[in-house]
Amino acid sequence: MRISVLTASDRCSRGETEDKSGPLISELLKDTAETVRYRCVPDEREQIAAALIEMCDALHSDVVFTTGGTGFSPRDVTPEATKDVIDREAPGVAEAIRAKSMEITPMAMLSRAVSGIRGKTLIINLPGSPKAVRESIEVVLPVLDHAVETLSGVTLSCGRG
Ligand code: MTE
Repeated sequence: MRISVLTASDRCSRGETEDKSGPLISELLKDTAETVRYRCVPDEREQIAAALIEMCDALHSDVVFTTGGTGFSPRDVTPEATKDVIDREAPGVAEAIRAKSMEITPMAMLSRAVSGIRGKTLIINLPGSPKAVRESIEVVLPVLDHAVETLSGVTLSCGRG
């Protein structure tokens, strides 16, 4: 599986803070996926959207994970940038992450993260903190293979027998 990781953060993009969450995504998925691209961009809708398009269309990533910019701050625009570039929504992925995260912290309801499909790439927004990244990856990991196989046009059963 080929994944790309995009961190949306003004402070990390200026080098004021080390990005821990982006590299953590690659680390957590290292047995499942190869990270073909990692970028950190400011919380700017156009720059996030352009990076997503590159990761989907030029690099043919199977899955693009974003981290950061999903909250309520005026600069949090990752969900809007994602909606700008997806062809189809995949709301169940974001719903599952939020539902599971709500069992851990009520703060999870403050994430506006979305998920969707551009071409054959699944884009998944994750919140910005390493803790949230860990908790969210755990939710999606069991379905990633099937999601990617289905997107590529391979017909498989969902394990229902
Ligand atoms: N989800 C999980 N699983 N664990 C968390 O600790 N933190 C929340 C939420 N989602 C959290 C979580 C908090 S505090 C915020 S503000 C929102 O994600 C948005 O985070 P972001 O603005 O960094 O994207």
